Amino acid sequence: MKLTQRPRRNRKSEAMRQMVAETELRPSQLVLPLFLVEGICEKQAIDSMPGIFRLSPDLVLKEISRALLLGVKTFDIFPALSDSKKDSVGTESMNKNGLVPTTLKMIRDKFPEVTLITDVALDPYSSDGHDGVVRNGRIMNDETVEILAKMSVLHAQCGADVVSPSDMMDGRVGAIREALDQEGFTDTSILSYSAKYASSFYGPFREALDSAPKFGDKKTYQMDFRNVREALREVELDVSEGADIVMVKPALSYLDIIAKVKAHTYIPVAAYNVSGEYSLIKMGAKAGLIDETRAMVETLYSIRRAGADIIFTYFALPMAQWLNENRY
Ligand code: PBG
Repeated sequence: MKLTQRPRRNRKSEAMRQMVAETELRPSQLVLPLFLVEGICEKQAIDSMPGIFRLSPDLVLKEISRALLLGVKTFDIFPALSDSKKDSVGTESMNKNGLVPTTLKMIRDKFPEVTLITDVALDPYSSDGHDGVVRNGRIMNDETVEILAKMSVLHAQCGADVVSPSDMMDGRVGAIREALDQEGFTDTSILSYSAKYASSFYGPFREALDSAPKFGDKKTYQMDFRNVREALREVELDVSEGADIVMVKPALSYLDIIAKVKAHTYIPVAAYNVSGEYSLIKMGAKAGLIDETRAMVETLYSIRRAGADIIFTYFALPMAQWLNENRY
C-alpha cells in the first residue's frame, strides 16, 4: 500500500508510546477513601469490597503512613457507626468527641503535611439512611443545610483541610462557605459533589457503612442519569456559591459529564471512582474474566483522560504503587 499516513509508526515501541502519550497521572492526584470504626487494632473486612477494610483510628494512621510512602497525600474519611449512634436528625454528626472529630485530630497531629477531606452528609449518622433530615417521608432541604454547615465548622475545627458536601441539597455550598468564614475558617476549602447521580454503583459503599436508605431512594436529591445540562447547572451554582473544587460522581458511566464539566469551569474537577466500579473489577478479576491490574490502570487513566484532575479511588494505593514501579 502507498500510505503517507501510518499512525502505527507512533506506536512502534514502548519508548515511542511513552513519548507520545497524551495523559499523565500522578499518585498525588489520587485520593484514598478511608472507612473508620471505633476501637483499637480493629480491622473489619467488607465483603462487598475485597481488599478494603473498616479501620480503627490507630490503624488508619498506619494506612496513611503506607500511603505517604507511595506518594498518596490526600485522604477522605467516612465513619461506620453502630445503629445506636444513628437518629433521624444525625445528632452524632455534631458530637465533638465523635469518631470523625477525634480521628481528624489524631491524623492532623501526626501528619501535618497531608490533605484531609471530610464527607459532609447525614447518611452515616441517619437512622433513615438518607443524606438529609426526613419528615413525613420527605428529605428536608433547608433544615439539612443548617446541620451540614455546623458539621463543616466542626470538621474544620478538628483539622479538616477540605470539607466535601456529598448530600446534593440545594444551597449547601453557600451556607457552608458562610459558616466557615464566620468562624474564621477562610482557608478551609470546599470540594463539592456537584454532579452526583442517583446510582446503582454505590451499593458496596452502603454495605461498608450500613447506610442504605431505609425507605425509597435518593432520587429527589441525587441526579437523574439521563441529564447532562442539569450537571452543568449544578456546577455553575456551586462555583457561584464558593466551591473550590467540583466533583462528578460516579466516574465511569459519567465520563462525558466529567469532560463537559472540565470544559465549563476553571476550577479543578474531581471524579469519584465509586465502590461498585471498584468491586466489579475486583470480582471480575477473581472470576478470571479480566486482569485486575490492567483493568485498574485503564480505568483510572480513562477518568483522567476524560478531564478529572483529582480521582477518589479505592485503588489509590495499588495504583500509586503501579505508577511508581512503571514510571509511566
Ligand atoms: C453519601 C455518600 C455515598 C458515597 C459517598 N458519599 C453513597 C450514597 O450517596 O448513597 C458513595 C461512595 C461509593 O460508592 O464509593 N453521602
